[in-house]
Amino acid sequence: MKEFASLTDNEMEALADTGGLPAEVADHMIENVVGGYTYPLGIAMNFRINGKDYLVPFALEEPSVVAAASNAAKMARVNGGFTVTNTGPIMIGQIQVINVLKPDTVRAKLLARKGDLLKKANEQDPMLVSLGGGAKDLIVKKLSTLKGPMVIVELIVNTGDAMGANAVNTMAEALTPMVEEITGGRVLLRIISNLADRRLVKATAVFDKETIGGEDVVDGIVYAYAFADADPYRCATHNKGIMNGVVAVGIACGQDIRALEAGAHSYASRSGRYKPLTTWEKNRDGDLVGTLEMPMAVGLVGGAAKTHPTARANIKILGVKTAIELAEVMGAVGLAQNFAALRALASEGIQRGHMKLHSRNVAISAGATGAIVDIVAKKMIEEKKIRFDRAKELVAELSKGKKP
Ligand code: MEV
Repeated sequence: MKEFASLTDNEMEALADTGGLPAEVADHMIENVVGGYTYPLGIAMNFRINGKDYLVPFALEEPSVVAAASNAAKMARVNGGFTVTNTGPIMIGQIQVINVLKPDTVRAKLLARKGDLLKKANEQDPMLVSLGGGAKDLIVKKLSTLKGPMVIVELIVNTGDAMGANAVNTMAEALTPMVEEITGGRVLLRIISNLADRRLVKATAVFDKETIGGEDVVDGIVYAYAFADADPYRCATHNKGIMNGVVAVGIACGQDIRALEAGAHSYASRSGRYKPLTTWEKNRDGDLVGTLEMPMAVGLVGGAAKTHPTARANIKILGVKTAIELAEVMGAVGLAQNFAALRALASEGIQRGHMKLHSRNVAISAGATGAIVDIVAKKMIEEKKIRFDRAKELVAELSKGKKP
């Protein structure tokens, strides 16, 4: 690899640094491991969720996100913070049955054997069942597809404190012989659905109008929401802002963030149009009411949440005891992040806040180190020229000891 990509010794050293993740653990997590990749870890402050205070770890590379979330949470605290509810840790496993001659008859036959199918599914995970989880229901859908009619069996599983992919996929695979015997068809795909629309969190907060800058700001945020609701180009960015927080906490806590993204965006499209995951309105007192509703498939047992020492430490900092509690915190974070973005966009814009951090990043990428970073960043802000070429010039001048 070193030869192939002409890597320097310094680059090899950077790759080999696995940070808080021991190399042996990394080596067991994925294949062909050559090192580690570290994100900055920041703590978002001021979060009060369902009456409890949290320090929320964020792992991400983007400046301003942690500060924005902390600031939003501080403003939400004025009216008691965030209230979050959830629909329970319910995931869906899908079994695709093809070559079905009479889908209606097959559907009826499958439903008649529901008890046996659920029993077989639950035999796969006695531990989950003993904790109150397991396969709870079974649905049968008919689909007309490009390849003709299909029957889809959906297993509804309470996955408890696990994200649930392993449990659900194991159950779905175990049902294959029985489903083929009942249907006379052929089972093809057996896999969890990431459209986790039975595993939702709903977060709300009321932002006091004076605290957030007056009624104009309230109106501006409602207009911003209306824009996202009407236009998918804006809505993608609106929802991206929500995911800035959700994904950052997800990474910090060892979650499958691809599953979170897939769930969020497919849920946002459930009506056939891509819609915001939040709503914003003004109440009778003129205060701003925000709600967020989205799937949040997260777990505390299994996966990186258990194996990655930094994820374990972050979960300890967060102090969540169940997967549901983690999901609720992440819902509140998504709402806070969206509030912060819309407030900035509907007033001074986001660039001013970004400027300082961005400028420091540009300085560092142009080779500035130590005290020179802040001098170069400050100078570029004064000159309103936050550019790589200017940073390079300033670094060169300062390194020669010349005052810019
Ligand atoms: C940037 O990472 C996120 C925002 O673009 C979100 C938004 O536009 O709502 C600021």
